[in-house]
Amino acid sequence: MLFQPSSAAHTIPTDAVPGEEDYSKHVNPKWTKLLSIIGIKRNFVRCEGINLIDSEGEVYRDFLSGYGVYNIGHHHPKLIASLTDELQRLGPTMLQSHIPELAAELAKKLTRLVGGGLTRTFFTSTGSEGVESSIKFARAYTKRDGILYSNGGFHGLTYGALSLMSNPWWKKGFGSMLPNTTGVPFGDLKSLENELRSKKYAAFITEPVQGESGIQVPTVEFMSEAQRLCRKYGTLFVLDEVQTGIYRTGKFIAAHHYDVEPDMVILAKAMSGGLVPVGALLMREDISDAVYSSVEKAFVHASTFGENSLGMRTALTVLEIAEEEGLAERATVLGERFRKGINEIAERSQFIKESRGLGLMNGIEFMAPQSLKLKVLHAGFRKVHPGLLGQMIVKTLFENSHILTQMCGHTYDVVKAVPPLVASEEDIDHYIEAIASLSEIMENTNAGFWSQGLKIGLRAVAG
Ligand SMILES: Cc1ncc(COP(=O)(O)O)c(C=O)c1O
Repeated sequence: MLFQPSSAAHTIPTDAVPGEEDYSKHVNPKWTKLLSIIGIKRNFVRCEGINLIDSEGEVYRDFLSGYGVYNIGHHHPKLIASLTDELQRLGPTMLQSHIPELAAELAKKLTRLVGGGLTRTFFTSTGSEGVESSIKFARAYTKRDGILYSNGGFHGLTYGALSLMSNPWWKKGFGSMLPNTTGVPFGDLKSLENELRSKKYAAFITEPVQGESGIQVPTVEFMSEAQRLCRKYGTLFVLDEVQTGIYRTGKFIAAHHYDVEPDMVILAKAMSGGLVPVGALLMREDISDAVYSSVEKAFVHASTFGENSLGMRTALTVLEIAEEEGLAERATVLGERFRKGINEIAERSQFIKESRGLGLMNGIEFMAPQSLKLKVLHAGFRKVHPGLLGQMIVKTLFENSHILTQMCGHTYDVVKAVPPLVASEEDIDHYIEAIASLSEIMENTNAGFWSQGLKIGLRAVAG
């Protein structure tokens, strides 16, 4: 996290939102403090489509989507109706002693959408659980222990998933990680083959587009060669599509851009419609059979909430909505519009380097300016904290243009644009215009951007 205020006592600021005091007392005081410091704390009372409405009636556009859960937008009316209907049926929800019909329907549908012969599904409630499960299935199938991963990735904060993340910030202070896990540079086939050659790895687990490290889109060659090499050395090729899945990048899963057929695919986030947590790990039949190898082992890997009917109904409805509303195409068209608009600004901006991404998973990279005065200012702020400039950008977009976004994890130079796929052309253009005016005020040392930043810095230091 960006700032770690030092004071242990939690003082309640005057602009406190409902629940803040108890949240600080009983959940996480540092979180309330952080939101206050970066100035994006609001009392949101209603969320619809891409819009977040606060108690003052101010409307903010959500370009973060809860880190990728709101692909169909907030509170889609069809999803609300479908969940209401499901609740009123009073059917079995999680008996653990029956055959859940909706799980069967959803697994069949996911098999068709993912393709590549991944005919078996293990249902989860979170993305991390999908990653953990993939490690177990891969180990059981290959009888190998090691797991390879791409440096710079994000896979979740449980021990197995955390062990597959190279950034030490997430791991420091939490003791030893899962043994036999090794990272290789994302996109580096030579390093990948050097490790695979040892034949000690059960799986190579990677995102097809990395978010945390600043929206890194690999080449087609890397993805297809990575798959070929995994096959050659008997290592399973596992794609973490927790964030890229469910049409985020313009295809059902990002793997479809690369024409690869992974051995396992992990989904979660947007399957939930932002309402009911649900995830899935898809795999080949022989991989599933390695775990469920006998009747006695029929439940050797299981999860209490995994196949619950509300989660299943939610995901089925999300998929229906996505198909009916052509969200794959929307993500493609709007994504291209976004990158074109931002890259035009980049041509004349001292601060904006480029926009990159796939579909509606995009980032904007900022850079050090050329002019001496701005360069000195930029360097000074980076020195206070490498993330300060990013938070100033986030705060300015929030306050001036009512856009909610964030930086890409700890890649402080890249700001995210991950709106619901139901966003309109006007929403996209609004973000582009906001970046154009941000670029202008960043270049004007008298426009208040830099003095505002100083205030954030001082508040962070003061705790
Ligand atoms: C690519 C990826 N994998 C896994 C996860 C972990 O998912 P969850 O937070 O649902 O456990 C995330 C969460 O941001 C993610 O982005």
